[in-house]
Amino acid sequence: MNEKRWVLVTGASTGIGRACAELLASRGFGVYACARKRGDLRALEGIDGVVSLKLDVTSPGDVAAAAKLVRKRGGGLYGLVNNAGIAVAGPLSDISDREMQAQFQVNLFGVHRVTREFLPLLMDSRGRIVMISSDSGFFATPFFGPYCASKFALEGYSDSLRRELAACGVGVVIVEPGRVTTPIWDKGEKSLERSGKSPFAETARKIGEHAIRKGKTAGLPPSAIAEKVREALTVRRPALRYLVAPSTLKYRVIRLLPARRVDRMIQREIERM
Ligand SMILES: NC(=O)c1ccc[n+]([C@@H]2O[C@H](COP(=O)([O-])OP(=O)(O)OC[C@H]3O[C@@H](n4cnc5c(N)ncnc54)[C@H](OP(=O)(O)O)[C@@H]3O)[C@@H](O)[C@H]2O)c1
Repeated sequence: MNEKRWVLVTGASTGIGRACAELLASRGFGVYACARKRGDLRALEGIDGVVSLKLDVTSPGDVAAAAKLVRKRGGGLYGLVNNAGIAVAGPLSDISDREMQAQFQVNLFGVHRVTREFLPLLMDSRGRIVMISSDSGFFATPFFGPYCASKFALEGYSDSLRRELAACGVGVVIVEPGRVTTPIWDKGEKSLERSGKSPFAETARKIGEHAIRKGKTAGLPPSAIAEKVREALTVRRPALRYLVAPSTLKYRVIRLLPARRVDRMIQREIERM
């Protein structure tokens, strides 16, 4: 009989997902760590307490096969960490339908697909779902429109889900990281190479470069987010949202000020660049 509580983490190849898989496994959880590439799956399998699963969240076949395997292994599922994510950036006037769809395919539709598939197991265990959102889920910055839109959507989705599932004892917790130093910033560098035609392309590039520089040098370590995820999965009464950032002052100011004041602050920041 398997006594462990099992948690499934999507996007566990690198960054926050990988840190969650490592931390949760080291604290006695059984972890289904999901990745897309064979090398990543092998590396995850080498961690004590981890079972690696091939899972591209945009593939209904992968999601169904992963759920089948989890059911077959027994042991149930106590936690789901919807972590897999990509960041599409650039001036909205340059973003194609395909790019916008790709953004939502992973950050929203992928979350929905995975959550729906594993929900029966989570209902059986009266377990928890942790959504890895972002500060971009409540603060919309310019030239990160697709990413911000996807995380705002994820926040709404999560609020609806939490209220739907309250009666059956499944918790939904949103974790909102600020800047975290992970490979997402290296991937962002590639998106700066996009050849934008809009009059905003140059400004977007400057802002993108600034964000990437900060992300690579002044972010929290992924382990800080993993620690919050562990808390969300284990404390008796978790918060509905955990904002995890080096300083939360900026966010408190933004929430207090009228939106037009925030617009002017952002405009001034852009002009100074
Ligand atoms: N880093 C930050 O500053 C920050 C801040 C706020 C929120 N977040 C959020 O944190 C989460 C993790 O990001 P990270 O910073 O740790 O970046 P990361 O290191 O790039 O990790 C992203 C993970 O998502 C996976 N992924 C991408 N597309 C996928 C798909 N179609 N199916 C399954 N997995 C897929 C990646 O797999 P591959 O290796 O196969 O591509 C990788 O494992 C994301 O939701 C991100 O939005 C990050």
